[in-house]
Amino acid sequence: MAQPLLTLDFLDKAAPTAEATPSGDVRITAATRTGRQRKLYIESYGCQMNFSDSEIVSSILFDEGFDTTDDLANADLVLLNTCSIREKAEQTVRMRLKQINSHKKRKPGMLVGVLGCMAERLKSKFLEEEKIVDLVVGPDAYRDLPGLISQVEGGQKGVNVLLSREETYADITPVRLNSNGVMAFISIMRGCDNMCSFCVVPFTRGRERSRDAHSIIEEASALVAAGYKEVTLLGQNVDSYKWASADGTEHVNFAQLLERVALISPKLRVRFSTSHPKDITDEVLHTMARHENICKYIHLPAQSGNSRVLALMNRTYDRPWYEERVNRIREILGDDCAISTDMIAGFCSETEEEHQDTLSLLDLVKYDMAYNFFYSERPGTLAARKLADDIPLETKKRRLQEIIDRQQLHARARYARMVGKVHTVLVEGPSKRSAEHLSGRNDQNQVVIFPKQNFKKGDYVQVLATSTTGAALLGEAV
Ligand code: SAH
Ligand code: SF4
Ligand code: F3S
Repeated sequence: MAQPLLTLDFLDKAAPTAEATPSGDVRITAATRTGRQRKLYIESYGCQMNFSDSEIVSSILFDEGFDTTDDLANADLVLLNTCSIREKAEQTVRMRLKQINSHKKRKPGMLVGVLGCMAERLKSKFLEEEKIVDLVVGPDAYRDLPGLISQVEGGQKGVNVLLSREETYADITPVRLNSNGVMAFISIMRGCDNMCSFCVVPFTRGRERSRDAHSIIEEASALVAAGYKEVTLLGQNVDSYKWASADGTEHVNFAQLLERVALISPKLRVRFSTSHPKDITDEVLHTMARHENICKYIHLPAQSGNSRVLALMNRTYDRPWYEERVNRIREILGDDCAISTDMIAGFCSETEEEHQDTLSLLDLVKYDMAYNFFYSERPGTLAARKLADDIPLETKKRRLQEIIDRQQLHARARYARMVGKVHTVLVEGPSKRSAEHLSGRNDQNQVVIFPKQNFKKGDYVQVLATSTTGAALLGEAV
């Protein structure tokens, strides 16, 4: 099944750039133009794991004679790679299916499939609820897609939502469809064994398993050989990465894996996401400090600043523990290391004082970035079974807005302190604001925009930051 690494040469130039958002985006895979007979259109929702999985799916179907297309109307097979993390994510997909239905009416042979977390959560119920759907395939069953497609072509519906304890797709080289030829994602593990009470992921993604360390190094090395400059190692909880060779002679933890990837090339930037506060070790922080090419940026979701709420969330750490981890980051990596978080507003029984604790944690840590949400009860989770979703929607929204407003001040200040400094920027492409400017990121994952001169995508450029918009640094190459 493994195939040579495919680069952007035959991809549409409109390939979207990789952004470090944990969820919320939608991505349409770029078009491959290799003359294959059938056309596959994939839209991916949710987190980077899904974007990464869509590249694996494309690879499996590439072998079956499918090129990807970005033109829905002319697709033979339409796949939605879905997310269940919040109710709104599921509603978006339901609405999208209605729009796709109108395309299918115009092209009756079009097959429609649902992949990912919503497929896993709803299983064959999806077929009853959404008549347009022909295929329902869970995140561990993508190898079965060719068989399921034949089944559908034979007039049946196709469903496979079996979760696996072993599947890591380690031998499948993803078709890099979400990439700009500079940055790529590498999944290093799948599933999650934590049971945060609000979270649907353990149910939709199954048990945690770590991928063969050698296959990760091979994939990263192949990316470097193909000209890539940055990889992001992905997992729901990368710090619990743990792999042993079959003969038991080799054991690799996350810090060791990170080091091995960093050693592939000093020109390769290494990022990772997500770190769980209970698991991030000093060994990881020291590894980051030792290697200049491991970006000084840690996504360390707190979820709440209050210990009672954290206990209800079953996060297994309390506020003092979280603060201690942040202090270690500051001691080992210094004040310039960027830290981001996810926060949930209005979790079950959260009081105003407890909400204030979340605001005070924002003030204490001064995050560079935060992804904030109001609590959305998910069927089947611990919280849905044991706790009342008792905070009124208006209160949840108001608290969320307070979190967003407070965090904006800190993000601005974090950008402002970078003005006057020289940053190593990896160029991602033209800036959205003007064709005369390039956009890239510094080590801390902050956006940096500067006049393009003769620089191009994939270059490392030293940029003196001269001002900030609060959401980006503006500067000049030096
Ligand atoms: N593995 C990551 C989180 C992945 S889900 C971690 O442990 O940090 C991404 C984010 O979605 C979570 O961090 C959380 O803030 C948010 N989230 C998850 N379930 C949610 C729910 N039921 N309601 C609102 N936000 C939720
Ligand atoms: Fe969900 Fe918690 Fe696992 Fe993150 S660590 S995916 S929040 S259960
Ligand atoms: Fe990701 Fe959404 Fe699933 S955040 S793991 S796609 S529920």
